[in-house]
Amino acid sequence: MDVVTIRNLKKYFGEGPRQVKALDGISLTVEKSRFLSVIGASGSGKTTLLNTIGGLYEPTEGTVAVDGTDLSQLTEEQLTVFRRRRIGFVFQGYNLVPELTIRENILFPLAMDDSRPDEIFFREIVGLLGLKGRLDQYPYMLSGGGQ
Ligand SMILES: Nc1ncnc2c1ncn2[C@@H]1O[C@H](COP(=O)(O)OP(=O)(O)O)[C@@H](O)[C@H]1O
Ligand SMILES: [Mg+2]
Repeated sequence: MDVVTIRNLKKYFGEGPRQVKALDGISLTVEKSRFLSVIGASGSGKTTLLNTIGGLYEPTEGTVAVDGTDLSQLTEEQLTVFRRRRIGFVFQGYNLVPELTIRENILFPLAMDDSRPDEIFFREIVGLLGLKGRLDQYPYMLSGGGQ
């Protein structure tokens, strides 16, 4: 089963002579459990690609399907739920909420979703990330890697 299926994806910014073709006909599939790295020069379109797969950008042309769901078929509200439940995104600038503790940041998407955390899974992940003693601290107190 493919987790991500992309067909002829184009993302253009702006119009006319200043138009930037950030993505110009990308096709790729990512199978379940695969780890994929996308490498390229600055400005080559990596962030645009990830933002489009994550449902933050709407394609100019082409399709993106995640877990078999064609993102273009979702309403704005369904897309919001999709991002909340299906996408985990570590942004270049982290985008953690500075007023919330580490614990609250980790659980924030669940709180927005009115979902309860799976305590065992939570503890497992926190242990894996080495954040066990940091849960009541704030993002600025962590190193870049920790964030
Ligand atoms: N929101 C935007 N508006 C206009 N141009 C953009 C926007 N985002 C990215 N671009 C342009 O698209 C191209 C790809 O950018 P980006 O995806 O950020 O590349 P990368 O992440 O590989 O450095 C660049 O030329 C960039 O200037
Ligand atoms: Mg980038």
